[in-house]
Amino acid sequence: MQDFHKSVVYQIYPKSFQDTTGSGTGDLMGVVKRLDYLKELGVDYLWLTPFFVSPQNDNGYDVADYRAIDPRYGTMEDFETLAREAKARGIGLMLDMVFNHTSTEHEWFRRALAGEERYKNYYIRRPARPDGGAPTNWVSKFGGSAWAYVPEWGEYYLHLFDRTQADLNWENPEVRAELADVLRFWIAKGVSGFRFDVVNLVSKPDVFEDDLEGDGRRFYTDGPRIHQYLHELCAAAGLQDNGMVTVGEMSSTTIENCVGYSNPERKELSMTFSFHHLKVDYPNQDKWALPEEGFSPLPGLREVLNRWQLGMQAGGGWNALFWCNHDQPRVVSRFGDEGEYRVRSAQMLGTLIHLMRGTPYIYQGEEIGMTNAGFTALEQYRDVESLNYYHILKEQGKSEKEIYAILAARSRDNSRTPMQWDDSPNTGFTTGEPWLAVNPNHTAINAQADRAAEDSVFRYYQKLVALRKKYPVIAEGTYIPMLRDHPAVFAYRRELDGVTLDIYCNMTAQPAQVDLEGANGRVLIGNYPAPQRAEKLTLRPYEALAVLY
Ligand code: GLC
Repeated sequence: MQDFHKSVVYQIYPKSFQDTTGSGTGDLMGVVKRLDYLKELGVDYLWLTPFFVSPQNDNGYDVADYRAIDPRYGTMEDFETLAREAKARGIGLMLDMVFNHTSTEHEWFRRALAGEERYKNYYIRRPARPDGGAPTNWVSKFGGSAWAYVPEWGEYYLHLFDRTQADLNWENPEVRAELADVLRFWIAKGVSGFRFDVVNLVSKPDVFEDDLEGDGRRFYTDGPRIHQYLHELCAAAGLQDNGMVTVGEMSSTTIENCVGYSNPERKELSMTFSFHHLKVDYPNQDKWALPEEGFSPLPGLREVLNRWQLGMQAGGGWNALFWCNHDQPRVVSRFGDEGEYRVRSAQMLGTLIHLMRGTPYIYQGEEIGMTNAGFTALEQYRDVESLNYYHILKEQGKSEKEIYAILAARSRDNSRTPMQWDDSPNTGFTTGEPWLAVNPNHTAINAQADRAAEDSVFRYYQKLVALRKKYPVIAEGTYIPMLRDHPAVFAYRRELDGVTLDIYCNMTAQPAQVDLEGANGRVLIGNYPAPQRAEKLTLRPYEALAVLY
């Protein structure tokens, strides 16, 4: 068995986790300060989003130096302290490698701008069309054209994200060698693994042409040489030999490709993030539109998650399991209930994802049931994508009211508000002015109050993390969908060596009837004080139950 099958990863967005200097921005020593909390939760790895030198146009996903710590977050010595202190608690660090693009402030890009041929070839450049327009009609993921013109070159460069995030030219073997070198640098510093940012976008097509059906993504998503590049990178940096745990962020991908990325025989990555289950509430695939009143995510979630569980299992691939990250709204607000059933729905959603086949990821604050930011004014937003889309939606003729409703549901800032530690004015996050407003509900929802409550999300998550280590059926069992047509309940079975675990999750605020399939089971975990055991049972609002036979 692969060790990471039993592991749980905790994701930290350092900017919003814990400030120790009063700057209003979280830092690496803040992570050190909270290690005992994370140890108590029981997680095995911390994935830290980028803390490298960066102008922060995309909060660190615009890297200007892959080998240096941004002074906002601390020093290399702080990083070494963190690595040492984490290791002493049996926790490994996974670093976030943003290899699809660099900041335009990276030395490579600056030297390219200055005309050095070698560095110009590190980026993707194309001449203008005869009319001077951009080489193709591709759209940036943050809105607008994916091309920016450089007068010095008389050419455009490609940026799939912000114009200050220039796409690297992976066709150039020198670029690939540089990136492998960055990995070796951090391996030598004692890290345990890596998360690779949008890594299935790095292999661009041979021909750049207009996309007459879409925004261009079909040409560069899971591109022509992507498997070869990942295999080579893995070998060049010795990722497997060094026991690194690796996860690739796969944008708009397919099961077939993710099997390829994560089947151990392929020697590419340990596992993959895919996002189809987090698009079920996008009407017509449009993130910037809201579903109709009364929309139920259950049919979509069940269809996508079952398909991915079965497909990855059949191909010997491995999923990263998650609801939340720094790009997604909070799951309680999205698929659960922010009000009366906040705690129950947080626990139910945790159960649903943690008992599946794959490695679960917990995003900071998820383990205490944090909710969306509740922003109502543009001034409160910081995220480049949200700010761009405010203008785009306005141009489309949407009213202010509609736009604020969309941002309140979709903005990436929903997950980036400071971690809620206690009920003090800045929630124990900072003694200064927080870079992004603290959610006012921190007086009620915070780690201190949650752990003291009789019904704690934290202690429930702690149990889920521990169960995965204790029960091989959770780490290794076969996944079998159940109750495929149930109007309220998401159910599935895990099976290993004669042991069966059935999981039932009521995704609604109404009671739901189910007939248990087995007899003589015992409740392994449930989120109501006295979990029921009967052959016919009525699940209470947002009740989750796992029965072991
Ligand atoms: C990934 C990151 C996101 C970032 C983007 C560009 O999707 O998770 O935060 O903006 O890549 O690097």
